[in-house]
Amino acid sequence: MKKLNSNIYLIGMMGSGKSTIGRMLADKLNKKFIDTDDKIEEFTGLKITEIFEAFGEKRFREMEESYFIEKSQLNDLVISTGGGIIISPKNRKVLKSSINTIYLKAQPKILVERVSKKKDKRPLLMDEISIFNKLTNIYNERNKLYEQSANYIIETDMLTKIEKFNKVLSCLH
Ligand code: S3P
Repeated sequence: MKKLNSNIYLIGMMGSGKSTIGRMLADKLNKKFIDTDDKIEEFTGLKITEIFEAFGEKRFREMEESYFIEKSQLNDLVISTGGGIIISPKNRKVLKSSINTIYLKAQPKILVERVSKKKDKRPLLMDEISIFNKLTNIYNERNKLYEQSANYIIETDMLTKIEKFNKVLSCLH
């Protein structure tokens, strides 16, 4: 069953604006903001890239899942998730059961320009000669999962930050 009065979850690819919009939402709605990557960096004392290097992606996904599941038990949070959050079936179950899971959908050609910032958070793109090809592959693998996990899909390609923010606000319960 869908949960009323639950947390707001922002999902989508790297560079889709989850953290920026999430922060703005939390401010506006007076809710606590959590960015899963930031929190994982905070409690491990390591950058996401360093976690991948030292322990591998699998271990990162385990940390991400256990942190996310723990926080999803709380209320009144705005949670901006890492792009890979939907890989875990347990995470997808939580996202699907919420009435406020929003997919910020963006095409790889739009994301390319945005992902060059915050490289230390994006080890999956680090050694890639063609970031566009890599993003396209990831998008093709994940788009269905994002769509299935969300109850709102916002096409963001043509939107400014403020327009994105307003669209998200207008679809919240
Ligand atoms: C990842 C996205 C990143 C970060 C990690 C893996 C992914 O978060 O969790 O680099 O698999 O898409 P952002 O979506 O915030 O960039």
